[in-house]
Order: sequence, then C-alpha cells, then structure tokens
Amino acid sequence: MGNASDSAPAPDLAAGVPASTIPDGGILAGRVGDDSVLLFRRGDQIFAVGATCTHYGGPLAEGLVVGDTVRCPWHHACFSLRTGEDLRPPALSPVGSWEVVRDGDTVRVGAKRPEARREVRPPASPESVVIVGAGPAGLLAALTLRREGYGGPVTWVGAEATPPVDRPNLSKDYLAGKAPEDWIPLRPPEVYAELRIEPLVGLEATALDVRARRLTCVDGREIPYGALLLATGAEPVRLDVPGSGLPHVHTLRTLADSRAIVDLASKVKRAVVIGSSFIGLEVAASLRERGVEVHVASKDARPLERVMGPEVGDFVRGIHESHGVVFHFETTAASIDARAVTLTNGERLETELVVAGIGVRPRTRLAETAGLRVDRGVVVDAYLETSAPGVFAAGDIARYPDPRTGELVRIEHFVHAERQGQAAARNMLGRREPFRIPPFFWSQHYDVVLNYAGHAERWDEIRVDGSLAARDAKLTYVAGGKELAVLTVGRDRENLEAEAAWEREDGR
Ligand SMILES: Cc1cc2nc3c(=O)[nH]c(=O)nc-3n(C[C@H](O)[C@H](O)[C@H](O)COP(=O)(O)OP(=O)(O)OC[C@H]3O[C@@H](n4cnc5c(N)ncnc54)[C@H](O)[C@@H]3O)c2cc1C
Ligand code: FES
Repeated sequence: MGNASDSAPAPDLAAGVPASTIPDGGILAGRVGDDSVLLFRRGDQIFAVGATCTHYGGPLAEGLVVGDTVRCPWHHACFSLRTGEDLRPPALSPVGSWEVVRDGDTVRVGAKRPEARREVRPPASPESVVIVGAGPAGLLAALTLRREGYGGPVTWVGAEATPPVDRPNLSKDYLAGKAPEDWIPLRPPEVYAELRIEPLVGLEATALDVRARRLTCVDGREIPYGALLLATGAEPVRLDVPGSGLPHVHTLRTLADSRAIVDLASKVKRAVVIGSSFIGLEVAASLRERGVEVHVASKDARPLERVMGPEVGDFVRGIHESHGVVFHFETTAASIDARAVTLTNGERLETELVVAGIGVRPRTRLAETAGLRVDRGVVVDAYLETSAPGVFAAGDIARYPDPRTGELVRIEHFVHAERQGQAAARNMLGRREPFRIPPFFWSQHYDVVLNYAGHAERWDEIRVDGSLAARDAKLTYVAGGKELAVLTVGRDRENLEAEAAWEREDGR
C-alpha cells in the first residue's frame, strides 16, 4: 500500500481525481471540505473513509489494508472500508464513510453516508445476560451484545467505583499530567443509557451458582442468568514487607490509585518504584515528566528481560537513565518507613512516595467458589466458554488455547481483553467463532513506543532487524522454528503485517 505524500497538497476528492492515481491495493489521501479522507482501491472497487482513527487519532493512511478492512498502525483497531464501522477495538466508534462516484476515469467522493446500522438477528438469544466486571472486557461484551442484535435484559456489575476507564492512560499521559480526566472514561455515560445497559458500579459479585444459574452480590441481590461473562480482570500484587501498609505506599490499577499518586507527586521530591515491570517503568517515566526524582528497585538484572529479552532490556534501561531514572538492580524493598525505603542490598532511599509495580494476579475467587476449572486463570475453550455451560470468561482472567502453540495462555493486555469481551459476547449469541486474534500491546516510555504482537513465554532465538538505538527495529521471537512474537520500534506497519500473517495461518 502506498502512503500519502507529506509534501504534495491533499487533493480535493469532491472535485475528483483520475482513477489511475489510486494504485490497486493502495491508497490516496485527500480532503472533502474540512475532512481528511482516504480513497482505497481493491480492483474495481474504491472506498472512501475518514483518515483518522477514532481511538487516539492514529493515521490510517499508514495502516494496513486486510481484505475490505483497514487496520490502524498505532494500536491495531480495525475499520470496515465499506461502511467505516469499527470492527475491532480499541476503536469504539466508526470513521466516516462517503459515497464514491465513478465518472469515466474520474473518481469523485460524494455525500457522507449516515452511520451504518446493521440489522442483525443473533443465531441464539439467551433469556438474560449477566456481565461481571466493568473493565474493557466487560465493556466490549456489553457493547457487542447490543450491536449483534441482542435485545434481552443485560445486568452488568462492577466492583470498581467507576464505569470502564482507559486503564493504560492511568500510568501514561494522565499520570504525567498530559491528559485531562475527561479522557479517562472509555465511553460517555449517555452510551450506557442508549444501550439500556447501565453498569452497576461499586457492586461486587460474591457467589456464582452455575447449576441454578444465579449470581449473588454483596448487597444480597440475586441475579438469574441465561448466559454469564466473567470479566473480573486482575489485581495488583501487593508488597508484603514491614511498612508496606503505610499510606504513601501505592499500587496502580484504578483511577482512584492514579489520582492518589498524582496528588502525592505534587508534594514530594523523590519517588521509589518497586519493580521494573511495564507499569513500574511507565510510572517512573510519568513521574519524571512531573519533575519528580525517581529510583527504581528491581529484582531482575535488567528491566523487561524475562518478557522481551536482554536487547530490549538494555534499550529500555538506557531510555530511562537518559531521563534521569536511577536503577537499583537485583534488589527489592526489605522495609518501608515514613521517610525511606530500605532495600534488601542494604541501601536506604529517602522517599515519601512508593509505587509497587510487581505484577498482578487474576481475580479468580468467584470462579473457584463456583467450581469452575481454574488453573492460574479461568480455563476456557477456543470459544471462551468455561467448564460450566453458558458461563464465559474474557480478559485478564481467561486462560485460553493459543492457536499458535496449542498451549493454554493468559494474556494481560488491554486490547486483547476488549477483543475477548467482543468474541465472548458473539459466542453467547450462538456464533461459535473460535478466538484466534493474536495478542497485541503497546507500552510507552517518554517518546518511545514499544509495539508487541503475538505471545512468546520462551524462545530459542531473537532475530534483530534494524537498530533499537536508532529507534527503527523489529525483533522476532522464535521457538522451535516458529515465529511467536514480534516487537517493533518505529515500524508499526511490520507489526500489523506480522499480526495479519499469523491470523491467516492460524485461521486455516
Ligand atoms: C496502569 C495500567 C496501565 C496499563 N497499560 C497497558 C498498556 O499500555 N497496554 C496494554 O495492552 N495493557 C495495559 N494494561 C493492562 C490492561 O489494562 C489490562 O490487561 C486490562 O484492563 C484487562 O481488562 P479486564 O477487563 O480483563 O480486567 P480489568 O480491567 O481488571 O477489569 C475488571 C473489573 O472487574 C471488577 N471486578 C473484579 N471482581 C469483581 C467482582 N467479584 N464483582 C464485580 N466486579 C469485579 C474489577 O473491579 C474491575 O473493574 C495496563 C494496566 C494498568 C493497571
Ligand atoms: S489510535 Fe488507532 S488504534 Fe489507537
């Protein structure tokens, strides 16, 4: 696919362009009035859609066309070229779609189409649906049920104080002070009213009876269900050392957690982050952007080495050090008091703000007490159905068969949780579609974004193409001769291409 030239002025597509200027399988960027519009061509067919991804504004001209869809280069949202519909999260609303008029060799963009409303009748329709957990997996299940034509009652309970939030932002721009709080809700409140699915926030489900098909909540209410989704996510592992219960010691999962860290960050000179996980490092970066001095204590010899290998570990360490972060490797907190953290190597770091980013564990208690099959996550089949018929699980709690390796895996990524919520909802409605989308996540460290597609818990070899130092690299993680994952920096298209290639292979 050819990309739009940066230098030439964008052609006026309403006035018309020669068809020959749109390469087959390619794209032409232009404008219609004030809108940036892209023309895509597949053989004789030409489509016109909006140029800007509705997630965070990614440039679709730099994305990948797969069949009659286009995928966003930044976080892999997918839109229909025919209608502009947001087919895959993290985009939750469509891009514009325009009529295309052919007049001899001239292609002209005509009227903007009204937002497409699909008339769908689901193959099956449970008497009622209950969703447990108001995170991204629960949200996409709720949105998808209605979009797929389910008109029955949906009850949605969530223990968190808020409707679903943009969790990745809580350690990135929001924590750095670059995103206002009104960016944080994933959907505006009126959407829930329109869908007739209000999340009952602050309400914890306490028991699940899969024989009676009934969920019990902490306030005693009992909710019967025809189908149920467990999307209870994960919770941060907490430090367990003397002083770890002090009020200035935080973990980060919720908006309230992020607010509390922001509040303290404005009052302290130095923060200590325990753990060099993605969240720990993103917190370090965001606090540096707020001018706070940051020390990171990590049990490992390098950050991220176990998940991404030594090359990435050294690269990420270098980025943080160049921004003034001080690492303390192969050590962790031994104790904490009001003024300092004492590390296991004996160092004492003066601080009044401690953030622990030492991993999460899946919230499986409800599933365990219900007698579902649980093995370091709620075990589901390829349709995301648990060992109890009619009970599905999605997101951080679900352990599902990876089509690449056949192994059961549990993935802790935002976009993957959304996509599993979407897939589980479709399967509740009788679609019987195996979940085969490869995992994808991104992580941001100052101005460097790491994009990772696939899943490799171990590997025999990491093939490096390009240069991490030059911020132009693709690393491929290979096990048993099979490519399991890629990490890219500055090569978003190649990340999309790897994802699309695996989907083709795994879908056969
Ligand atoms: C700060 C931060 C930054 C992140 N950044 C990224 C990133 O850049 N990229 C990426 O891919 N991933 C990122 N992640 C991970 C990503 O957010 C998770 O993978 C994703 O949120 C998982 O979604 P989920 O719906 O499965 O669970 P969750 O988001 O954990 O939501 C589950 C919800 O269920 C509720 N719940 C639990 N038990 C019950 C119960 N018994 N009754 C009712 N409700 C219950 C919880 O309160 C919670 O609200 C980040 C996570 C955090 C915390
Ligand atoms: S900006 Fe397009 S998926 Fe995030």
